[in-house]
Amino acid sequence: MMKLKSLVQQSFSNKMGKIKYFCLIFFLFLNLITLPAKSDPIFEKGKTIFLGEGNCAACHALADAKSSSQIGPNLNQIKPDIMRVINAVTNGIGVMPPYEGLLTLEEIKAVAHYVSISSNQ
Ligand code: HEC
Repeated sequence: MMKLKSLVQQSFSNKMGKIKYFCLIFFLFLNLITLPAKSDPIFEKGKTIFLGEGNCAACHALADAKSSSQIGPNLNQIKPDIMRVINAVTNGIGVMPPYEGLLTLEEIKAVAHYVSISSNQ
């Protein structure tokens, strides 16, 4: 009887071990899918600048920002990398004004981070 009891306990704790392991893997996997976009404060900051202070949405179409202006190139089409955005925003390009002095380097990096990631999705 004792033997049976300990056998049952053993297999039960084995099962619990497997369930715990499964849960751990499951939640790690879930995090991988959902966390990057949601818990990236620089991405969120960049989006706020894109829509607000930087006023990028006034000239550029970008699906993530729900903007559709056609004055500048559609960012979903040109899919600029982060350096290209930093360059354009810092120095200006064509009729696009330079933002050096208007936005801090921190803010320019944030908006470039946001544009390069969101336009490549
Ligand atoms: C007044 C309208 C206007 C505003 C505001 C504006 N842009 Fe532009 N942007 C343009 C135009 C026009 C071009 C194309 C310039 C050219 O190629 O002659 C451009 C080009 C770009 C490019 C491509 C640069 C390249 O190398 O081809 C990027 C990236 C960009 N803008 C990002 C931004 C971001 C980010 C903001 C906000 C901080 C912003 N723009 C604000 C009009 C604007």
